[in-house]
Amino acid sequence: MQSTPAAWAAADAFLADTLVGSDPDLERALDAQRRAGLPEIEVAPVGGKLLNLLVRLSGARRVLEIGTLGGYSTIWLARAVGPEGRVVTIEAEAENAAVARESIDAAGVGERVEIRIGRGADVLPTLVGGFDLVFIDADKESNTIYLDWAARLGHPGTVVVVDNIGRDGEIVRDDSTDPKVVGTRAGLRMLGEDPRFDATALQTVGAKGWDGIAVALVV
Ligand code: DHB
Ligand code: MG
Repeated sequence: MQSTPAAWAAADAFLADTLVGSDPDLERALDAQRRAGLPEIEVAPVGGKLLNLLVRLSGARRVLEIGTLGGYSTIWLARAVGPEGRVVTIEAEAENAAVARESIDAAGVGERVEIRIGRGADVLPTLVGGFDLVFIDADKESNTIYLDWAARLGHPGTVVVVDNIGRDGEIVRDDSTDPKVVGTRAGLRMLGEDPRFDATALQTVGAKGWDGIAVALVV
């Protein structure tokens, strides 16, 4: 096989078919997101399932998500925390939050999910801590702010996941002027240097091209 974006997407579809399967609630959430004209930048199905498994592997009951979009990853997280668990998810755009609210409720996990509308930098200081897992998937320019709050609102043992750390390999460019690349690089440097974290990152290819995720433990 040639390593092309089409081949990555085909292999990703095979993995999703084999390991995730069809999921009417999630597919309805994606339809609603598309119909509302939101960008199609949600995590891939295999990525959503990974988030779900990380919550369950770590036993997380209180989850914080930064960047709700249409609620696709939120549903994966909310399913994983169980009926007594809670997900707080922050969304800057009220229109996105409305789409997410409907999809999350329709998926039957509405009681577990609190959507906070506002910019992360404004909402995060108002939250009560104690989060067991934090998923950072918002404006990449603010990744260091979000990581700082993840450590402050977490505790030793908190799992932190950062989406989109690969950026088509652009992360190697120390002269990049793309704010998303600059922000992603700063977040990765922080994960490497800040003594509050122990971290690694994996590159991914698949439905979303060449990208990656970072996983960190608050120590
Ligand atoms: C972008 C953001 C995302 O969260 C994502 O998964 C893919 C792309 C972006 O802003 O370009
Ligand atoms: Mg993302």
